[in-house]
Amino acid sequence: MDLILFGPPGAGKGTQAQRLLATYGTPQISTGDILRQAVKEGTRLGDQARPLMEAGQLVPDSLVIGIVEERLRRPDCRPGFVLDGFPRTVAQARALETMLGSLGRRIDRVLSLEVPLEVVVRRLSGRRSCPADGRVYHLTEAPPRNPGRCDACGTALVQRPDDAEEVVRARQTTYRRDTEPVKAFYAAQGLLREVDGQGSPDEVFERLRAVLG
Ligand code: AP5
Repeated sequence: MDLILFGPPGAGKGTQAQRLLATYGTPQISTGDILRQAVKEGTRLGDQARPLMEAGQLVPDSLVIGIVEERLRRPDCRPGFVLDGFPRTVAQARALETMLGSLGRRIDRVLSLEVPLEVVVRRLSGRRSCPADGRVYHLTEAPPRNPGRCDACGTALVQRPDDAEEVVRARQTTYRRDTEPVKAFYAAQGLLREVDGQGSPDEVFERLRAVLG
């Protein structure tokens, strides 16, 4: 299965991609995670991406498309993959079509998580993550066993800089302007499936499984 998980910031794409990985073995390709890693390592890509991410804006298509192209060619993607946070512009969607075409593949489904604005704001303000292994928690919805510490490695949890209130607002504006049109692109191809993203992560996952059949 070659899948795209689509939805606004905080819709639960990363959370559900992890469940798809655990159930179907499909690797999660998160452009956000790849870019955050580049920022952490201080690479050239990270230096270019950091100010844009911190302002809630998109990193240029040319940079992100290159990252995904390289990632999709790795052997673990042969049986399938889950794209999380890509494509985010119609230009990225077209580039994805071209790169998959050259590999003799195409997207099977685009699963769009539908969550109202006030819910995503609540999810983002309570999100905490582990800087060591990237595990994601929520202060009330998915709290760690020991407050403020990663369940797996005990590292102190942090808040993502782009989860600050004013950056969340900018990310939502960017989403509406640049990313929402991608839905129409896939709807026109008959690939889009809208899934209710409210309720517990397990409930949302059951809905995704039902759509995947
Ligand atoms: P990225 O990391 O992709 O951020 P995003 O799309 O804004 O998505 P998030 O990671 O914020 O949310 P999510 O939907 O994964 O939700 P999560 O599962 O964590 O991108 C960051 C930045 O990188 C962008 O702004 C841009 O600058 C750049 N970038 C990335 N890709 C790019 C691209 N293709 N082109 C250009 N630039 C790009 O859940 C959120 C919280 O809610 C968590 O705390 C979780 O525990 C909780 N939660 C999840 N599900 C539920 C549930 N069902 N009930 C209750 N709580 C829940």
